[in-house]
Amino acid sequence: MTSTREAAPAAHSAADLRPYEAGRDAASPNRNLTPVTTGIDPEGRLVVGGCVLSDLARRYGTPLYVLDEATLRGTAQAYRKALASHYPGSALALYASKANSSLAITAVVASEGLGLDAVSAGELLTAVQGGMPPERIVFHGNNKSLEELRLAVELGVTVVADNWLDLEQLASLQPTHPVRLMLRFTPGIECHTHEYIRTGHLDSKFGFDPDQLQAVLQHLSQCSWAQVSGLHAHIGSQIFELQPHRDLAAVMADALKLAREMGHPVSDLNVGGGLGIRYVESDDPPSIDAWVRTVAEAVAVACQERGLELPRLLCEPGRSLVATSGVTLYSVGSRKDIPGIRTYLSVDGGMSDNPRPITYQSQYTAVLADRPEAEASDSVTLAGKHCESGDVLLKDLALPPATTGDVLAVFATGAYNASMASNYNRIPRPAAVMVHDGMAEVVQRREQPEDLLRYDVLPERLRPVA
Ligand SMILES: Cc1ncc(COP(=O)(O)O)c(C=O)c1O
Repeated sequence: MTSTREAAPAAHSAADLRPYEAGRDAASPNRNLTPVTTGIDPEGRLVVGGCVLSDLARRYGTPLYVLDEATLRGTAQAYRKALASHYPGSALALYASKANSSLAITAVVASEGLGLDAVSAGELLTAVQGGMPPERIVFHGNNKSLEELRLAVELGVTVVADNWLDLEQLASLQPTHPVRLMLRFTPGIECHTHEYIRTGHLDSKFGFDPDQLQAVLQHLSQCSWAQVSGLHAHIGSQIFELQPHRDLAAVMADALKLAREMGHPVSDLNVGGGLGIRYVESDDPPSIDAWVRTVAEAVAVACQERGLELPRLLCEPGRSLVATSGVTLYSVGSRKDIPGIRTYLSVDGGMSDNPRPITYQSQYTAVLADRPEAEASDSVTLAGKHCESGDVLLKDLALPPATTGDVLAVFATGAYNASMASNYNRIPRPAAVMVHDGMAEVVQRREQPEDLLRYDVLPERLRPVA
């Protein structure tokens, strides 16, 4: 599969641009509201990756996912740099590809030296075909199918055993080479985030109960096909606190001690992901550097206190790695003014390309792509086009007066938007373009209405009689 690299019609070099100051925090990419390359051109229009956003909308249509390669690379480099400077042993960041799985994103993170975590055959194939070396891939899932496990074993990736069924199914495959296993357990740690994305508390569907760990390790001592190479836990997502990650290090070091005492030469400690990002001005997440420093120091100290040789430190950032590189472009359509109540401004996408607001009541920041700095004298509710009253992308958004056809840019949509998109109301999924140095490349083609019919089958007896 190849894509065409096109210079955007109104490409700009950084020298032509004024920086766009809103939500800028040079200290860490996950604290920015917008991609690092965001600027304003001499006509006052928003530019990302050297491309004028409204030109991209015209050329590729809307809704459109725009991914800024420089932001993605910068974030990957921030994780690598922080791990190298704060952890005394070896370390590897694995991109949690559930945040946004595509060949192009995989290729970028692989070329930056990161690994990847996948949770389905689809994510595994995307990873491998995107150029991620199998030895840098870990395979998760609380209900993996036998076929998925077979694929994982054939590819030679590390399998994260989540439950007894994983172990039974792996044994039934009679692997001819030792399978690298990581054991996921529930660490029993509470954190403050939406209940749907909290995973570390005991009442979670993910991982072995901590009380079962000893029995699992005992069982695996008898399994010649299994090589227990690591332990894994993940406490949740969009977390701003640092203390739960410190607490996790101590719980994991106890588990590491137990595993090693039972004769398993466990080398990897995988602390999962979870670092939050800034979606709106008032969000205040720790920087990537602060998060990594906290985790790295806590793991190093916890191991030292227990007399353990330092494991390799793995972490699995998803949202904080990719979210800020993404901007979604929509075209403004109809407007409904309800005097004294609210004004609805509808766009040509909604809950099918971004299900986060309706699922988690998530908030976003948006501006008009060609007038980002104009006085925001209106207050509107940005509605999607789906047959659902709850299909609202942003409530009470301050905007300059907007008319049909204006292009709207919603920031920080690079994570859990494209990957959670649906075809609700039979609406095709948007295209994605990657921008870099004034060039734009389609990295995911726009679905067409015919694509949506490809898997429908109309039985002969139901066919309309001609
Ligand atoms: C096991 C695991 N690792 C990593 C992540 C990535 O989390 P985040 O996107 O918050 O960094 C998740 C997401 O919930 C997860 O379930």
